[in-house]
Amino acid sequence: MPLDLPSLLSQSSCDRPLSAIRGLLPLESRPGLISLLAGKPNPSGFPFDSITLRLKPTVEGSKDAQGNPVQITIDGSDLERVLQYGSTNGDVMLQRELTKLISRVHHRTRDNGEPDGVFALAIGSGSQDLLYKTISILFNPQDTVLVESPVYPGFLPELETHRVKAVGISTDEQGLSSQALRDTLKSWNSSDATKELRFPKAIYTVPTGANPAGTTASTERKREILAIAREYGLLVLEDDPYYFLTFENMSEDALKQERALSYFALEREDADKWGYGYVLRFESFSKILSAGMRVGFMMGPPTLVNAVVALTASSNLHASGPAQAMAGELMQYWGTDGFLRHTHNVARMYKERRDMFGRQLDTILGRGEDGKQAPIATYVTPVAGMFYWIKLHLPPTDGAPEGDSYRVISEKALEFGVLAMPGGAFFVDKRKTPYVRTSFSLIEPQDAHEALLRLRRAVESAWKDAGYNEIPAMNT
Ligand SMILES: Cc1ncc(COP(=O)(O)O)c(C=O)c1O
Repeated sequence: MPLDLPSLLSQSSCDRPLSAIRGLLPLESRPGLISLLAGKPNPSGFPFDSITLRLKPTVEGSKDAQGNPVQITIDGSDLERVLQYGSTNGDVMLQRELTKLISRVHHRTRDNGEPDGVFALAIGSGSQDLLYKTISILFNPQDTVLVESPVYPGFLPELETHRVKAVGISTDEQGLSSQALRDTLKSWNSSDATKELRFPKAIYTVPTGANPAGTTASTERKREILAIAREYGLLVLEDDPYYFLTFENMSEDALKQERALSYFALEREDADKWGYGYVLRFESFSKILSAGMRVGFMMGPPTLVNAVVALTASSNLHASGPAQAMAGELMQYWGTDGFLRHTHNVARMYKERRDMFGRQLDTILGRGEDGKQAPIATYVTPVAGMFYWIKLHLPPTDGAPEGDSYRVISEKALEFGVLAMPGGAFFVDKRKTPYVRTSFSLIEPQDAHEALLRLRRAVESAWKDAGYNEIPAMNT
């Protein structure tokens, strides 16, 4: 059965009046129409004549056929358009380029190669902007949402503000556990943990290189989860900013790189029975073009995407025009093949960093170079993204038989001169946990080595403080 999308909208979203001006703006493009409508500034007052983009010499497509550096210039009517107030759901050029990308990567096309037409696309000021608005358009106070546990903490504050209950679903080496999801839903009305709560509307997951756990779900795992979502009438919020940073089985040829299918792509399977609309997908340029550009995008059922766009119409109006133009012009110049080659190169760079950091981890917190050292941490090697989620071997503390990384990190490790993210922040209940999130995106080998040595000293010192002269062997 298709999902009843209008019933998912929050009261505030249903009550939101149409923006009087933004509702009429599309009519301005009608041929022959003279518009006195919008309070748009006169562009002759804008000082910019052109914007020129120059690519780093090592980047995909940075040189033309003669080997000369390529310049991409945004000027004329294109520049005028993006310097002006623009379309609420995103600039027309970037919309066009993204539609091509989405159709290709997520296979959302008809037989004639055109987009399948059952999804809408909206561009935002980063995916965080779109996630934040999605929470507002979906949830009423006391509604429930399921979140993978541990969860990206950027999703939680807005839930709290809206007094939405988040229920954590446990994860394994592939992230969100389909078994745990099914068990939770099956026992919803009988389990003490959930029986007083409303039945959830949605499940939130980061399927690739999850923040913080670094886990990546296989296509098969996603199939299982989508099947459960369909069975129980849940919307899947697929937050996938690390999708293109997949470095498992890297292919020599960027265009042949295999990645797990997205939930959004998987919706095509059994669409005859279930219809479309169970997946709202979020992507971002932050990790592959620039984080400061603040360009992200969402795709999914028009009812929900348009509700987010209506909220944008009364908040920030649209994402920055010049930032969208930078992305749109670059994507047009690269074409989808060039974009995929670029992201492949970025993924390769992260893989090298992952390998370097992983080796240092094995040497310093793991079994050591000769394999004889007593390990003081366990971790799963990430196949995408930029995080190692490390379980430290810590002395037990009150209510935490496996120890609590919070004090060890925020006091001891800091004293020794290293900073990482204590794991408690990534759980809905802010529990005590021995986990810590480390990022290998920026760190150079020398600093990684020193940072992990300091982390080791902090753990050793915590055991000493707890009265142990020697660290007991950990269960691995
Ligand atoms: C899982 C996840 N979602 C969303 C975001 C926000 O990304 P953006 O820069 O596109 O707003 C991040 C940023 O780190 C993230 O890790």
